[in-house]
Amino acid sequence: MRIILLGAPGAGKGTQAQFIMEQYGIPQISTGDMLRAAIKAGTALGLEAKSVMDAGQLVSDDLIIGLVKERIAQDDCVKGFLLDGFPRTIPQADAMVANGIEIDHVIEIDVPDEEIVKRMSGRRVHSGSGRVYHLVYNPPKVEGKDDVTGDDLAIRPDDEETTVRKRLGIYHEQTKPLVEYYGKVAAEGNTQYTKYDGTQTVAAVSEQVKQLLG
Ligand code: AP5
Repeated sequence: MRIILLGAPGAGKGTQAQFIMEQYGIPQISTGDMLRAAIKAGTALGLEAKSVMDAGQLVSDDLIIGLVKERIAQDDCVKGFLLDGFPRTIPQADAMVANGIEIDHVIEIDVPDEEIVKRMSGRRVHSGSGRVYHLVYNPPKVEGKDDVTGDDLAIRPDDEETTVRKRLGIYHEQTKPLVEYYGKVAAEGNTQYTKYDGTQTVAAVSEQVKQLLG
């Protein structure tokens, strides 16, 4: 089961990734989480990525492609993987083809921009695991605490409204063309493309994903 989750920042990719990972036992490969872990660890990669991410820009294709290639080569990806936040540009998608990485499902989660701006102000994250919550739509069991570890939840530095709007602009310019790209791939081969209305509840989207994946 090799899956790509496609959608704007805040569409709910990370939220559904949590569900798919738990339900099907395949690893989530979130390039955003990997970069945030590198920033936290203070590595050279983290230092390079931090200012770019805080400004809502995309990290370079070469850097990201190298990171994902290395991750997919690990043993736990043999039975499948879930790509969350990758590919985000046409060169990133082309790099997968060039490396012989095949995909079974592309799942698009569609949410209008204004809804996303509203959602981001309520997002809270557990930085250690990447688990994601919302103050209203997906609250933790105990206010301000991660359900699993009990650690404090945090606000992501790039969730400030002006940065969110910048990220949405970049999404429409550089990532949205992948909708057409994968539409064509699906028409030609073995990849299935499915689009969901991401304004439904978290549970409703998960239920539809479950029906798709079986
Ligand atoms: P990344 O971490 O990938 O961020 P993103 O794609 O912008 O996506 P988000 O994590 O913001 O949103 P999401 O769709 O996962 O939504 P979530 O489930 O959290 O990337 C961050 C940065 O890293 C980039 O800006 C870039 O700089 C860099 N980067 C990463 N990958 C890269 C790449 N491939 N190339 C270049 N640069 C890269 O949900 C959002 C909120 O809504 C949550 O609070 C959630 O609880 C709530 N919610 C979810 N679903 C619903 C629902 N159905 N109803 C109501 N609320 C909901």
